[in-house]
Amino acid sequence: MPRPLSPQGLIRAALAAGLLWAAAAPADPALERGRYLAAAGGCVSCHTEDREGAAPYAGGRALTTPFGIFYSPNITPDRKTGIGGWTAQQFVAALHEGRNPAGRAYFPAFPYPAYAGMTAGDARAIYAYLMSLAPVDRPNRPHALPWYLDTRLAARGWQWLFFRPAPFTPDASRDAVWNRGAYLVRHLGHCGECHTPRNALGALRTGQEMAGNPAGPEDRKVPNITPDERDGIGDWSLSDIGMFLEIGMLPNGDFAGAGMGQVIDDNTSQLTAEDRHAIAVYLKALPPQAKPR
Ligand code: HEC
Ligand code: HEC
Repeated sequence: MPRPLSPQGLIRAALAAGLLWAAAAPADPALERGRYLAAAGGCVSCHTEDREGAAPYAGGRALTTPFGIFYSPNITPDRKTGIGGWTAQQFVAALHEGRNPAGRAYFPAFPYPAYAGMTAGDARAIYAYLMSLAPVDRPNRPHALPWYLDTRLAARGWQWLFFRPAPFTPDASRDAVWNRGAYLVRHLGHCGECHTPRNALGALRTGQEMAGNPAGPEDRKVPNITPDERDGIGDWSLSDIGMFLEIGMLPNGDFAGAGMGQVIDDNTSQLTAEDRHAIAVYLKALPPQAKPR
């Protein structure tokens, strides 16, 4: 039978256990999960102003689109200028339904059509992580849109035409790795928001998933990343894709240019090697597509 500890021994044991616990437990694991998912969602890229020293998540980044300039809002927990007064449920509704706490529609410059497939658990974990950040007092800047779009009714009309939110449902005919890749590419990573071509009203042409976009964000051409041999990345191996998503190097030794560079820095380089591999598996399994002309 073990000898009972003396009171001093008990205190020492408790202290040692406490010290060990403090050293071994980095952050709260729930917050760590939210931080990881926010990285996989690339939230910081859009919600941080594009200048040296800008406060992460405090908004103000100008997003140039064919429809006008959108300024991302502050999503730090500041009560006055950020989302500090929001409940988790209101936050989930923004991502899943594209509407604000007053029930008004968001413009799809906020990629909620992709995030709508995120699980509610993942959305809540991101909420908990954002709420753990320091609040930043930075008022939102109004979007610069033509008058006929400068109303939430225009966003509502767009939703009515094109927005069909649906949760991600795993495809039972595929394995777990493909399904993880599908979840990351289509929903959290919103890769199609740049890599899938759009119609004249800005809705994704889902029949041409990842076939490239001749008029992507900031007026950039976005390449075809289907396994098409001529137009896509058919000659890239799984590890070529994994390496590209980790450090931005193409198989020919070049490095990713603007636009994708930030996705790599803020998002795919932060993922585990398993998640990058899952993305590569999903991309390689896409039907090859010619690039839209
Ligand atoms: C491609 C750029 C982009 C990305 C990536 C992005 N957002 Fe946004 N987000 C926006 C824009 C633009 C708006 C404003 C939309 C509007 O006014 O209709 C917005 C609005 C929001 C709002 C509403 C804030 C408010 O005050 O009403 C929340 C919450 C939000 N985003 C959270 C997120 C989270 C969480 C992620 C990552 C999972 C994310 N966003 C990724 C561009 C982006
Ligand atoms: C903000 C827009 C944007 C998003 C989001 C985005 N990409 Fe890209 N991507 C680009 C651009 C622009 C390029 C071309 C970069 C260049 O010219 O070097 C590119 C290049 C690539 C390439 C190299 C293709 C080639 O032939 O050179 C791959 C692979 C790729 N992206 C995968 C992804 C994946 C996977 C995701 C989602 C996790 C993603 N991208 C999300 C804009 C984006």
